[in-house]
Amino acid sequence: MGSTSLNLEDVPSDSLTTELLRRMKCATQPDKRLILIGPPGSGKGTQSPMIKDEYCLCHLATGDMLRAAFAAKTPLGVKAKEAMDKGELVSDELVVGIIDEAMKKPSCRKGFVLDGFPRTVGQAQMLDEMLEKQGVKIDKVLDFAIDDAILEERITGRWIHPASGRSYHTKFAPPKAPGVDDVTGEPLIQRKDDTVAVLRSRLEAFHKQTRPVIDYYWKKGIVAKLHADKSPKEVKDEVQKVLS
Ligand code: AP5
Repeated sequence: MGSTSLNLEDVPSDSLTTELLRRMKCATQPDKRLILIGPPGSGKGTQSPMIKDEYCLCHLATGDMLRAAFAAKTPLGVKAKEAMDKGELVSDELVVGIIDEAMKKPSCRKGFVLDGFPRTVGQAQMLDEMLEKQGVKIDKVLDFAIDDAILEERITGRWIHPASGRSYHTKFAPPKAPGVDDVTGEPLIQRKDDTVAVLRSRLEAFHKQTRPVIDYYWKKGIVAKLHADKSPKEVKDEVQKVLS
């Protein structure tokens, strides 16, 4: 055992038991490979943690990965930042590369929830090629259908805890104390691209480049349309119905 390895004797018994029970439950779950598609603020990031936990999948959110890459000042993150701040898409090659790498993580062995990827038909085709090599395919695409008019309030009221990705909303999902994360007590921040002006570009990119991806999967008969304008609880119920 290397000096940086975790010593199980130091892990509290209740944590070990919780993890053991989780693994036992997961062993009986079928593999699932899911894609969540929807415009900015449609609730993909809100529903992902529930889906990931319920079906024992990994959650791969390209937006979060790119922001983490920028925070770590990697060349990839620095390259992506300019397009992200303008609400434009970063290049297909860049995001396909990070997804290809991320899918190799042990936490993805029972499948994954892709959140914010693929966003162009080119990315969808490259993903299909990647999965074909592994002899697997996408099981379901969840289309977070919602009218653009609702999204401005959702996006401009969003506050996030950068370290965990936990997301709050001043009106729809307020933290227990204003401006701080419920779990850690650390300060919440607003994303630089969560402004009315940048939202306009993000929506334009969604309609021009990402809507065709829904048609791409529609032809394969694997799209389930959700009413993403409903409350988080109602959307969660719809997701569970579609995936059960
Ligand atoms: P990314 O980080 O993926 O952002 P996005 O797709 O614009 O999605 P959001 O995170 O804004 O929205 P969400 O649907 O997760 O909403 P949430 O659940 O938080 O991408 C950012 C940028 O990275 C892109 O613009 C691009 O530049 C780049 N990028 C990323 N992937 C790329 C790719 N594949 N190719 C190229 N470029 C890429 O909800 C929003 C708010 O609403 C929250 O405050 C929440 O509390 C609230 N809320 C959620 N659900 C409900 C509900 N049902 N009712 C009321 N309020 C709700």
